[in-house]
Amino acid sequence: MNPRAATLLGATALLVVSAAPANALSASTDDRSGSTAARSLQGISQSLPLRRAAPSRLNIGSAVAGGGHHLEQDYPDPFTYDTRYRSILGKEFSSLSPENQMKWEFIHPEQDTYNFGPADAIVRFAKTQGQVVRGHTLLWHSQNPTWLEEGDFTPSELRKILKDHIFTVVGRYRGSIQQWDVANEIFTDSGELRTQDNIWLREVGPGIVADAFRWAHQADPRAQLFLNDYGVESINAKSDAYLALVKKLRAEKIPVHGFSAQAHLSLRYGFPADLAQNLARFDALGLRTAITELDVRMDLPADGKPTAEQLTKQAEYYDQALRGCLAVKGCTSFTLWGFTDKYSWVPVFFDGQGAATVMWEDFGHKPAYDTLRSTLLKATFSGPRGSRG
Ligand code: XIL
Repeated sequence: MNPRAATLLGATALLVVSAAPANALSASTDDRSGSTAARSLQGISQSLPLRRAAPSRLNIGSAVAGGGHHLEQDYPDPFTYDTRYRSILGKEFSSLSPENQMKWEFIHPEQDTYNFGPADAIVRFAKTQGQVVRGHTLLWHSQNPTWLEEGDFTPSELRKILKDHIFTVVGRYRGSIQQWDVANEIFTDSGELRTQDNIWLREVGPGIVADAFRWAHQADPRAQLFLNDYGVESINAKSDAYLALVKKLRAEKIPVHGFSAQAHLSLRYGFPADLAQNLARFDALGLRTAITELDVRMDLPADGKPTAEQLTKQAEYYDQALRGCLAVKGCTSFTLWGFTDKYSWVPVFFDGQGAATVMWEDFGHKPAYDTLRSTLLKATFSGPRGSRG
């Protein structure tokens, strides 16, 4: 049994003993005591946060709301000012991903100016809560500052700009970041490198990807360095392209340690049922894998409220994504792209869609939340990770 399961069992036994009336204790052979234990276990499991229910080798993460689309909403910075939000973030999760606060446009808004405050605050908070952090992201085509995109730099200037940025940002958080999304969304759906819209690939060339990994590794040798993308949950042209790239980079001894699927899913499409099989291909090469940005959006009915059927289906998608990760040994990080509809990016980016997270706007649990917790508990007590750990 793994340590987490042992702790849980210990806690259960304690609770059974302390909650039981004197007569129930003396009647320990009575099968009523069995049902008391079962009820207590159920009671405990219904109040356990996700991070406590999870097997010890799996981090359960959330994006930390701030920056990006939040800046256009009529609320102040969620992570800084929503105390209820912060407390749930600390209680439920063992891993945090800055949603926007480490992206270029946010952390490096002018050529000579870095804005570290919000990212520093997240890293500090994570330390106080015993959480790890996933850094996001260093080389991407999107959310780059204007000075960079419109700066008319030569290829060698750009290469130096990226190198300095990586050494500055990765170096600043050296030792505090468990996993970095070094390269984000570098392939198109058909598996071609994004040489049109990605400034680095277009201006400097494909070799910049290996450079980014090398620099990030030099800046923080302990961080696990990832390739991250959407639409790579299944075996398809895009994930095939990643597999080929990983093989090439590894053959060249480039420090690439992980491959992750964002998993922005939608009830419009079927669940990517070959998720585990796909991740297993990377696992077999010795890479870690992760689910990094899970949400499950849906077309909302006219009244804006999901139907019972939609909620059930959404819970199944969340659950299958978790099971896909649990089935692969090196899948050690499972992150939700936000945990409450209050701050989700989905309604802002996908017209008419929403309700994509596991909690309502008032932080009440949806079926998806309960399903995740129960699958985590099962994995902790009896799953392959539980018995291995
Ligand atoms: C999204 C954020 O959630 C928004 O706040 C922001 O306005 C746009 O970006 N893939 C990624 C994430 O890698 O960084 C994106 O996050 C969602 C898609």
